[in-house]
Amino acid sequence: MIKLNKKILSVFLAAVMLFASVSCAFAQPVEDWNAYWETADAKAGIIMFNGSDDSQRNFSWYSDVESKPVIRLSLNSDMCDYKEFSGESVKTYDGNIANKVTVSGLEAGKTYYYQCVSTDFTSSVYCFETDDDNAFTAMYVTDVHVSHHDDIPENIRDTAYTFDFTIEKALETNNDISLILSAGDQASEGFQTEYVGFAASPYVKSIPVATTVGNHDLKGVAYRTFTNMPNESKMTPSTYVGNDYYFVRNNVLFLIMDSNNTNSTGHRNFVRKAVKDNPDVNWKVMMFHHDLYGGRIEHRESENALHRLLWAPICDEFGIDLVLLGHSHYYTVSNVMYNNKTVAPVTKGGTVVDPNGTIYMVSGSLNRPRDDENPPLGENVAIEYLTEDKIYNLIDFTDDSLTVKSYAIESDVCFNSFTIQKTSADGGHSDRMPPLYNFIVRFIATIYEFFNNIGIHGDLTDKGFTVNFFDIVFG
Ligand SMILES: [Fe+2]
Ligand SMILES: [Fe+2]
Repeated sequence: MIKLNKKILSVFLAAVMLFASVSCAFAQPVEDWNAYWETADAKAGIIMFNGSDDSQRNFSWYSDVESKPVIRLSLNSDMCDYKEFSGESVKTYDGNIANKVTVSGLEAGKTYYYQCVSTDFTSSVYCFETDDDNAFTAMYVTDVHVSHHDDIPENIRDTAYTFDFTIEKALETNNDISLILSAGDQASEGFQTEYVGFAASPYVKSIPVATTVGNHDLKGVAYRTFTNMPNESKMTPSTYVGNDYYFVRNNVLFLIMDSNNTNSTGHRNFVRKAVKDNPDVNWKVMMFHHDLYGGRIEHRESENALHRLLWAPICDEFGIDLVLLGHSHYYTVSNVMYNNKTVAPVTKGGTVVDPNGTIYMVSGSLNRPRDDENPPLGENVAIEYLTEDKIYNLIDFTDDSLTVKSYAIESDVCFNSFTIQKTSADGGHSDRMPPLYNFIVRFIATIYEFFNNIGIHGDLTDKGFTVNFFDIVFG
């Protein structure tokens, strides 16, 4: 795979910046971050999400006045011969404007340069690359928890720096990362200012990001206008701030689900259609927020059990290879699971070949890691790593293998890895249907979600948000 080395690119762009103010991935110590934090680009919260496939990218940023937002896209760093893509803007609950634009028709193996333009704002020039073959590396983190604090005004800036710093460290390990996966709780209170912090890193303007809704993201309504996701589900009921969506990246179908939503019927129908519409992918990776097997928090075991009941049958039925999770803030990797039972062991540094089931993985929180030992983990957990260190994971995808490598930043160690290998298209997944009672479970869970959303409406109203009852309850 011929990839433009990002370090070389950075050096090249550092020189170009003197003349054209082009920004791509660059390293920055905390003093530089604090200065950068005050710039218009950092405050605009520019973020690039993955598009429907690698020929598209979705952009989002904030501005103060209503406008017809535009992305200027060029193959030249001086932005000559740029092409314009226009999008839509929506009013946010904070009273400003969220701009959303999709660029399409991107060609493989190219470097593109772009600027975000709205009525009162023109960004610096940023760049991104498109993949040139099926092999690529994704970075997976979770529970970033960019956090507002009433008494510490710089808390958002400092917790946002953790995210930027972690991406930078991951790029030092592998400078070909071309996707960032964040499994929920991007924010702690769901405030727009926290999402601006999450999006502040220059890296999320050059590497596409996929996020999902954590329970903390659901504390406010800002996530709804922050995101610009492809192939979004229109299911009812939803949790209002977000929804399921999917994208295809080379040979991988990514199914990004909202696990706050117990509408299991809707989730299952969404996955069934996405899988049916993308029959040629080699890998199916799901990401949602809530933990199933790895929690060490005793009072949450009933919640984990509920999520096992709702999600494991969907992963079994559609042959999901790997599920990326968050929420518990403990690093764990399950054995290969089918019907809530271990069907094959996963070992440190080991390879599972054509597994008949799914591996569920949770990474530690970036800003709120936990290392308490109790209570003991269940028999389905294969690997754990207790640490207060910050963890990032690199996932290398090829046509016939998927390797996860996990790193702790301060101890500077790759403490775990495992590989899934496939020798055939179905890779060992069973075509057995889940038990019939799952239909009844899904039905009850979907009815429950209507009533749950009435509660969510009440919570948001109590917090002073003016939100439409029907929008929330019926999605
Ligand atoms: Fe969390
Ligand atoms: Fe959470």
